[in-house]
Parts: sequence; structure tokens; C-alpha cells
Amino acid sequence: MARLRFTCAVIFIAIASVSAYVDELDDTFKDIRTNELWLVKFYAPWCAFCKTFAPVWYEVGDELKSMGSDVNVGMIDCTKHKSVGSEFGVRGYPTIKLFKGEKIFNYNGPRRKVDIVEFAIRVSGPVVRAIPNQQMFQHVMSRNDILFVYIGGASPLKEKYVKMASQLIVYLSFYSALETVLPKAVTLPEVPSVVVFKDGTFFTYNEVQHGDLTTWVNRERFPTYIKLDSYTLYAMGDTGKLVVIAVEDEKHPSEESIRLKALIETAATEYKDHFSSDYQFGHMEENSYLNGLVLGEVKAPCIIVLNLSNDGYYTPKVPVKTIDDLLSFLDGILDGKVKQLGGNGAVQRIKRAVTDAKTTLKTMYDAAPVWTCVIISIPVGIVGMIIYATCTVKRVNGDEEEEEEEPQQKGRKAIAGKENKRKNSGSKKED
Ligand SMILES: *[C@@H]1O[C@H](CO)[C@@H](O)[C@H](O)[C@H]1NC(C)=O
Repeated sequence: MARLRFTCAVIFIAIASVSAYVDELDDTFKDIRTNELWLVKFYAPWCAFCKTFAPVWYEVGDELKSMGSDVNVGMIDCTKHKSVGSEFGVRGYPTIKLFKGEKIFNYNGPRRKVDIVEFAIRVSGPVVRAIPNQQMFQHVMSRNDILFVYIGGASPLKEKYVKMASQLIVYLSFYSALETVLPKAVTLPEVPSVVVFKDGTFFTYNEVQHGDLTTWVNRERFPTYIKLDSYTLYAMGDTGKLVVIAVEDEKHPSEESIRLKALIETAATEYKDHFSSDYQFGHMEENSYLNGLVLGEVKAPCIIVLNLSNDGYYTPKVPVKTIDDLLSFLDGILDGKVKQLGGNGAVQRIKRAVTDAKTTLKTMYDAAPVWTCVIISIPVGIVGMIIYATCTVKRVNGDEEEEEEEPQQKGRKAIAGKENKRKNSGSKKED
């Protein structure tokens, strides 16, 4: 039965891992890519996650093909074609990039088919999409939590908008429209302008007040209060904001959890003007990411504030009972009165490396216990052999002396001695 299932699995994997629409690329990719759209996965055959991810990549190829997209899908084995990997700055596997003429866009989202296909369609298309009429505007509004639109005709502001969009299109789509297309309820202080629709309202960009357009869009590209996961957090890194998180208990939301979420939502929405340039607010269920960050276990429910630029974090010293407690905690962080924990100093980095290694081992072990043991036992075995060899040599040199000592020895040393002796005689036999 088990064997049958195994055979089926093998056949299934064999079928699933071929696709006519994914090209295996090589060194020549550097030359052929010009004037073509390419979505490329850089991988290494030894990387375990690349193996799990392989079928998804074929699905991406199939999906883009069936949609009639002109994005070519390819993959490059960076162990075979090292120069390509280094040319494009590939540091981890799998790395996904979209090549569009001279431009290269990195994909950093979830490794899921829908997200990758969406990214490919978005980034390969026009940098700014024109919305032709009111119906279309309503449609686009209903489909986007966050919507940036340039309103007006040609202008220097539009040039800046297009420039910004060509950079931030990796995160979201950008639109343009004429004033006539706007819903009646939307009246703008001036035209041309850049408008963002979010949190059920809208506001416009003001160069004097908000500074650089790209920086402003980067800051405003998330709803004020959202459900977070590790990918969203990663994508938020570029906003430069601190992230205030209500960490929920994973399965059974307790009253405390609901209370903390409500407090954070209140701070996010009612104190928006006060905090929105410094803070992003959200709630999060999966806390494995946070555990990795604090190098321990985050006791949910709780409140934690992250600085994503340096992996630092803040936790309230006293229990947050009221909104005032929360506000003074948040103000305290900005004033430098609340001490930052964690961060990326040398000691912290070492601690993190150790924790990461432990987590990796544990994940490996959970996924494939036998295999992990084999892998771990190789270096351990080698070290063991070296120690053994060293002991054997000593033993040979000081054979007589130690033998005399042995009867008086007690505890560990004696046991070690016996062990040595046994090993020694064993090796003699082998000889
Ligand atoms: C977050 O960390 C960065 C890098 O260390 C630092 O420049 C920035 O001031 C920090 N933000 C806050 C609000 O402390």
C-alpha cells in the first residue's frame, strides 16, 4: 500500500515537474534577454526549498501562457552558470526577477502562483494605467484597498509620477485619469494632483508638506491598519516606518487579544494625523517570524513595535490598559524614552545566527528526520574521527603509563580511558 502510494507520488512528481512553457536557460541569457520580457527563477539544485518550489514555477509558466501573456518564463541553475548569478546579484535561492528591456525588477512576495503571476502581469504591463471612464474607475476602486491615481493631463508632476511608478510598480499598480472620470463625491483642491484612496477616504499629495513623491507613496502604500504576515512585514521594510503590532493568540482569540487589537486600531485611525508618518499599524497571527526576531517566544497576546531597518523592537514596560497608555508608549519610542531591544549589533547578530541555525535544524528535522540525522552525522562523524584519531595516538604513546593509572581513576576520566582502550583494541583488531 505504502509502496503503491510512493510510486504514485513519484509518477505525479514526474508529471508535475515538466512544462513546455518554462525554458532552462544558461550563460547566453545575458545576451538574449534584450527586448524581451523574461520572468526568471535563479535556483540551485541542492536547495531544498527550490525543490518544493519547482512545481509552482511550472504552474506559473503554464498560467502566463494560457493567459496569452508575452512574458517568457525561464530558470537558471546558478551552480552550473555561476556568472549569470553573479551578474544579476543573486544572493539566495530561489531568486525571482523580471527582466523588461534594460530594467530588472525583483520579486519579494509570497512564493505562490497567484502572487507571482500577478506580479509578472503588473510589472510587464504599462507603468501607469489609464482609467478611461467612470465605470472603470469604480471597478478599479472596488478591487484595490489602496489606489494611487494621477489626475490631470501632461505636467511636470505627471513626469515625477511616472518615474516613481517605474520604481514602485514592484509593489502595486499605478493609475492615471482625467478629472471627469472621478466620482462626484471626490473634489480635489487642485489639478493636476496625485490622489490616494485608502481607509475609505482619499487625500492628495502636497510637495511642500510631504516632500519627495516616491517617499510619500512608499509611506502611504499600506492601509492604516492591516492584517500582517511575514511577507507584508518584509515589503514594509522600505517604508521606513516603525510597525505597531497586536500579536494575537493563534487559535483562540482571547478577550485580551481582542482588546489589544481594538486599542491599536483606535490609535491607527483616530490618531492617524499624529502617528501616520512614523507608524504603520496592524495585527498578526503567525508569530514564528516575531519569535525569530526577538530570539525567544513572543507571548501572545501582546503589543510589539518593530524597527524593520535594524531588526530592533520595543515592548511596553507596563501593561497597556487604556488608549492613553498606548499613546504614551508610542510617543515614548519617538522621543527615545523607551529603550530599543534587539537590533543588529554584533552580539545580536551572533545570537540570531545561532537561533536561525537551531530553527533551520528543527525545520529540517520535522520535514525529514532521517535525512537530517544523516546530514548532521557527517560533520559530527568527521570531528569524532579526528578526536578518536588524536586519542589513539596519545594512547599509543603513553600506553604503559595510563594503564598503571587506570585502577585509581574514577568517574568520567576512567570511563573515557576504558572507552579508549576498547576503541584501541578494536582498531588493533581491524589492523
Ligand atoms: C530604525 O533603525 C534605523 C537604522 O538603525 C534608524 O536610522 C532609525 O532612526 C530607527 N527608527 C527609529 C524610529 O528609531
